[in-house]
Amino acid sequence: AIMTSDGISRRTFVGRLPLVGGGIACGLQAVSLTACAGTPYVRPTTAPEGLSVPLDAPGTDGGVLVQSSGMERPVYLRRDTSSGEWVALLASCTHRGCQPDPVGERLVCPCHGSEFSLMGEVLEGPAERPLRRYPVTREGDRLVIHIDGRRP
Ligand code: FES
Repeated sequence: AIMTSDGISRRTFVGRLPLVGGGIACGLQAVSLTACAGTPYVRPTTAPEGLSVPLDAPGTDGGVLVQSSGMERPVYLRRDTSSGEWVALLASCTHRGCQPDPVGERLVCPCHGSEFSLMGEVLEGPAERPLRRYPVTREGDRLVIHIDGRRP
């Protein structure tokens, strides 16, 4: 009887962990004024120079995750409110490659808690290197993210 009871409690404990983790992450987002619904995704057109999205894709707040079928992680694209420049960051944590989520004024990695500024700099470890940033140019009514990293 003891073994059965032990087995059940272990299964219950393990089964609950992901739910508890999700609840905490969502709670933090709500506190940081980012909706729990999360950041919208957009599929880019692949142009020779990089990934192309409509000019209005990032919206006016919070930015957008540009998910190309050829890339494992999306690119987080937003307009910096103070400088007006477009910022495109590869949403792949430089610690072990999980996808950080935009939470208020930060990108927070759900795996081991690294935090990055919206410009990609490390604010909290264990990550030590900034997120990869790509140049962005405006081409008429489109934005092009230059994922080869070269400035056009
Ligand atoms: Fe992001 Fe470890 S993978 S903190």
